[in-house]
Amino acid sequence: MEKRPIIIDTDPGIDDALAIAIALFSEELDVKLISTVAGNVSLEKVTNNALKLLAFWEKDIPVAAGADRPLIEPLVDASDIHGATGMEGYDFPEPKKELLLEEHAVNAMHRVIMESKEPVTLMPIAPLTNIALLFTMYPEVKDNIKEIVMMGGSASRGNKGVMSEFNIATDPEAAKIVFDSGLPIVMAGLDVGWKALVYPEDSEKLLKMGKTGEMAYCLFKKYRGGTFGTGLKMYDSCATAYLLCPELFTVEETFVDIELAGSMTRGCTVVDLKGYLKQMPNAKVCTDIDGEKFRKWFLEYVGRCI
Ligand code: RIB
Ligand code: CA
Repeated sequence: MEKRPIIIDTDPGIDDALAIAIALFSEELDVKLISTVAGNVSLEKVTNNALKLLAFWEKDIPVAAGADRPLIEPLVDASDIHGATGMEGYDFPEPKKELLLEEHAVNAMHRVIMESKEPVTLMPIAPLTNIALLFTMYPEVKDNIKEIVMMGGSASRGNKGVMSEFNIATDPEAAKIVFDSGLPIVMAGLDVGWKALVYPEDSEKLLKMGKTGEMAYCLFKKYRGGTFGTGLKMYDSCATAYLLCPELFTVEETFVDIELAGSMTRGCTVVDLKGYLKQMPNAKVCTDIDGEKFRKWFLEYVGRCI
């Protein structure tokens, strides 16, 4: 079976690390490029983290560093959730610097997409700054993009603001450009991320699942995206899960816009499930997930990693 070409745009990030692992070791996905963007921590740190992960897994995937700040506002990171390094808790090998391209991520994405024989899927699991710059600088890429499957947004409440999710709220203008792009979008937001949980018993199983499982266990002890007791939120793995097992999700096609001016709601994804705004649908929004099936899926796929 032909592998599906994808580009992962990421800000590792503890949950990013597991989402990337599952994609890299899947039989269905061909990761052509890993692009990094400032988000959870600085661009330098997230890029180093991506290179450390590839050294850890001994995977020679090209990495390209992208935007070091959102389009308009300064970066407000999530080091309180992921630790100062962005992947606190595990002693990784040195970053595999030879995998880092000279090209800016936007130029590398443009090249990879235009060279691909098959339309490329974008899997952004971070603020959308790189993706917005890509569409602005190189609109021709849209002709060879299959879809965008993102972790981001929320049809309910937020985790960075009252109504705004971190990836969208970090760069709302970028999100607006992406949701206005006209490309097929799948939005795996907090509505499913909050139910994509790893519980203590799962973490104990991970510990015995090879070096990726052991690494995950160590990271989870530091991860503040939930707690061991109440369940750790595997936000970014929801994007990978949609690509590999879409039947886990309940999906509604609807119109989504980004609030840019709200004094209290800036960065909110306005998910118009009832059609009040009378706009054509521009996204498939994941409104629910089978949490038990996700747990089984997650453990099975982490078990396939080295
Ligand atoms: O809101 C969750 C998102 O913010 C995830 O991508 C996580 O890694 C953080 O970047
Ligand atoms: Ca992320």
